[in-house]
Amino acid sequence: MAGLLAFFSRGDENYVNGELKMLETGNTEAAAGIIQKLTGADSFKIEPRQPYSKDYNECVAQAQADQRRDARPELTAYPESLEPYDVIYLGYPNYWGTMPMAVFTFLEHFDFTGKTIKPFCTHEGSGLGSSVADIRRLCPQAAVEAGLAIRGSSVSAAEKDIAEWV
Ligand SMILES: Cc1cc2nc3c(=O)[nH]c(=O)nc-3n(C[C@H](O)[C@H](O)[C@H](O)COP(=O)(O)O)c2cc1C
Repeated sequence: MAGLLAFFSRGDENYVNGELKMLETGNTEAAAGIIQKLTGADSFKIEPRQPYSKDYNECVAQAQADQRRDARPELTAYPESLEPYDVIYLGYPNYWGTMPMAVFTFLEHFDFTGKTIKPFCTHEGSGLGSSVADIRRLCPQAAVEAGLAIRGSSVSAAEKDIAEWV
């Protein structure tokens, strides 16, 4: 089965075990790297045209404002087509209990008829939140499988859980 691995991830300043740290690779991107190795899926990073601030607190304020107004931030690019793919591994950090709004933009762009979506999420305590229900609402034509929640600070230790979920 051909797979597409589409994910949103923000390196930059983030909380790791209660401390602000500058991450070179975002947690979701690190998880995506493991999934890519396991599946050989094509990889695509979902990037808003206007990225959130590198400063953690500013990013939190921007992301919350986007969520409150149910924004659909413009993306820099999309995969040309989903036609070659049967399964979409969809990765994102938990932002305020669900996905970053850029992932909503991504999902609304395509027709997922006949596709399987496998959601995975990194978080700092809230797990998948309402994200899987949101994906089902946005993509009623897709078969949305059970999601995988990984604590952001433990991605490197989650390889076994990820392999089982894959
Ligand atoms: C704007 C923002 C909102 C967040 N909201 C939540 C939340 O509601 N629940 C939670 O468990 N973690 C929350 N987090 C933590 C992230 O989900 C977590 O650090 C994630 O691993 C970041 O992934 P990334 O490095 O791939 O961007 C939030 C982080 C940010 C920046």
